[in-house]
Amino acid sequence: KPRLYSGMQPSADSLQIGNYIGALLQWRDLQSSYDAYFSVVDLHALTVAQDPAELREKTRRTAAQYIAAGIEPSLSTLYVQSHVRAHAELAWILSTITGFGEAGRMTQFKDKSARYGADATSVGLFTYPVLMAADILLYQTDVVPVGDDQKQHVELTRDLAERFNSRFGETFVVPRPVIQKDTARIYDLQNPTSKMSKSAESDAGVLWMLDDPAKSAKKIMRAVTDNEGSVRFDRESKPGVSNLLTIYAALSGRQVPSIEDEYAGRGYGDFKKGLAEVVVNEFEPVRARALELLDDPAELDRILAQNAARADAVADATLGAVYDRVGLLRRV
Ligand code: TYM
Repeated sequence: KPRLYSGMQPSADSLQIGNYIGALLQWRDLQSSYDAYFSVVDLHALTVAQDPAELREKTRRTAAQYIAAGIEPSLSTLYVQSHVRAHAELAWILSTITGFGEAGRMTQFKDKSARYGADATSVGLFTYPVLMAADILLYQTDVVPVGDDQKQHVELTRDLAERFNSRFGETFVVPRPVIQKDTARIYDLQNPTSKMSKSAESDAGVLWMLDDPAKSAKKIMRAVTDNEGSVRFDRESKPGVSNLLTIYAALSGRQVPSIEDEYAGRGYGDFKKGLAEVVVNEFEPVRARALELLDDPAELDRILAQNAARADAVADATLGAVYDRVGLLRRV
């Protein structure tokens, strides 16, 4: 089977539904056709300040949400990035073939460093995409399903793989991003031209997977729309309604035109009520399952340990080949 790799940062107590629609739904659908690896990228989360106890908790919570959303730890390898030491080691090697200017062109870095200011921007935030490249390349990955915002990082990964291969001989599979066109970017409900994000300034526009469903329903009822009053997809002039239609379609498995037809001639209130129902129905069982898994952290830790052992074996083989290729002396 071809290899698949993807991951998420444990940067909040709950994932938001952009993570679910943009990534997890694809992961779940693809996992049976691929040899799939899904990591909770705790080393990446360290690029911004974290409370240590909270980070541990968020890491477990993220893993529990993967499983609750349908990632099968017996079918896919679901593990915590820091449990496999090869990630940090390969990142170092790759950093030596990454250009300073090349890394500086990553738009996510430019956005984040502009937001935090130079002194609050760590070197780790700058080299973040190199660590992501190491994640992907260690597993000889064929495909990387991600949302639109990670595309540039996967392109960098391809460049680094090709560069390494041509300099040191064929070592890495060159991966390609897989991006679901319609759902690659879910927007904030209050600010429907910026993407929904775990680190949004205001909570009102973010739907959390583990939130009380009644709270999510309320946020949907208050979502920003427009004053035209018709349920119609038009990203340019109706970003709010279009985003709600995207979410509705992704979670119900229906096409946008069929939803537009259903709500033709009815107001936004009805449409939002319908969407709230879809969202609550989807997330109620996911939330219940995640909370159940979190009730038994020892069992969850055991699953993660078993999966990390599988990942370790694959990653170590790649790292060994890389060390040989670049000329590091073997310890005998
Ligand atoms: P992260 O944790 O920011 O997001 C996890 C996944 O969710 C997608 N996503 C969205 N999709 C649609 N609409 C949104 N509003 C939205 N917000 C987030 C992201 O595109 C991503 O697929 N650098 C990565 C984590 C990572 C990784 C990897 C991914 C580390 N190593 C290796 C793939 C392969 C990140 O910060 O994702």
